[in-house]
Amino acid sequence: MIDPHLIKKDFPILSRMIENKPLVYLDSASTSQKPQSVIDAITRYYSNSNANIHRAIYTIAQEADDAYEATRESVRAFINASSTEEIIFTRNTTEGINLVAYTWAEQNIHEGDIVIVSALEHHSNLIPWQQVAIKKNARLAVIPLSRDPETPYLLDMEWFKKYLIENSTSIKLIAITHASNVTGTINPIKEIASLVHAHSSAKILIDGAQSTAHLPIDVQDLDCDFFAFSSHKMLGPTGVGVLYAKKQLLEAMPPFLFGGDMIREVHQRDATWNDLPWKFEAGTQNIADVIAFKEAITYLTNLGMENVRQHDQKLIAYARAKLESIKNLKLHIPKNNMDMTGVISFAMNGIHPHDIAEIFNSENVCIRGGNHCAKPLMESISVPATARISFSVYNTEEDIDIAIEAIIKAKKIFNIS
Ligand code: ALA
Repeated sequence: MIDPHLIKKDFPILSRMIENKPLVYLDSASTSQKPQSVIDAITRYYSNSNANIHRAIYTIAQEADDAYEATRESVRAFINASSTEEIIFTRNTTEGINLVAYTWAEQNIHEGDIVIVSALEHHSNLIPWQQVAIKKNARLAVIPLSRDPETPYLLDMEWFKKYLIENSTSIKLIAITHASNVTGTINPIKEIASLVHAHSSAKILIDGAQSTAHLPIDVQDLDCDFFAFSSHKMLGPTGVGVLYAKKQLLEAMPPFLFGGDMIREVHQRDATWNDLPWKFEAGTQNIADVIAFKEAITYLTNLGMENVRQHDQKLIAYARAKLESIKNLKLHIPKNNMDMTGVISFAMNGIHPHDIAEIFNSENVCIRGGNHCAKPLMESISVPATARISFSVYNTEEDIDIAIEAIIKAKKIFNIS
């Protein structure tokens, strides 16, 4: 089991006081805080080894090159990809998904084809597929939420199985989130992948933005074709994302961005492309942040992702029990803690989520209120917005207690029983 009180000490921002109140950070689904080792790695790179990569033979350039490629190997191991050729650095999850939409989908989605998403998608895994569907005159199908009162906020897998079997030849892609940034719901990716592979030749893209910081990830075991995620939600710097894709897919895909470093031969009127993964990394990359991302992976690996998951479960159970005892508060999360990560949306009769977030802020508790970039999901669950608390490895039960006090304060201000 991990000790969040000790972990907190590794995150300098978490010792910050504002108006004599400790900073309580419960917005890690938005972005996580960074340990000192990540912050130091950025400074170390700029102080000691700042040089461009893949271009020069002098010592500091070699150091930069080695450190950049070492992160790629750490990422490979972290998600159990079979080769570093399958690890592409992007700016974020959104860019990884767009890369697939602009390259693979450009070649493989045609008129009348079907792309399936789910009702739980963040806009980043919805809008690119809407655009593909519009451009290609393809269809976008949406796996709805279950209407069974026993399985709220889970996907309707019976609908999915039926739809898959009835449309197996037209379905070309299932683009689905691993875990919801609103309800915390973990989608049954292995089950989805095995159904898809049994009934069609469609590919599976996973939006891993909300799962990589919470669950052990094994892309081979999940049997997905694409898996996109961001460093900044898993203790690493902003501006770095990863797209994993199976090698044979990447080999067949055209480049996404054209320019320096992604080429092999260039003549005045044509060019050929570099080997994987560099074929997909045009221009000077975010070298410092990629290098520092390795420290974040090391931090999580040292904790052990099974332990991270256990800690998440402990906090979910603690928070659920407290929140369920508050009158007029509705939780928008699955019934079973095992079906979710540490992301808890709630709404209060008579208080807008923005007001809840504002009152939390007056107690120096950081949460997000709003539609969480998931407007269609808000419609599905019939609310305009929710208040959301989300956890990371540094959160304690005391953080949750302070959040509960903030809810009680909000109720008093709004005169709600
Ligand atoms: N996707 C991030 C969130 O859910 C920004 O807050």
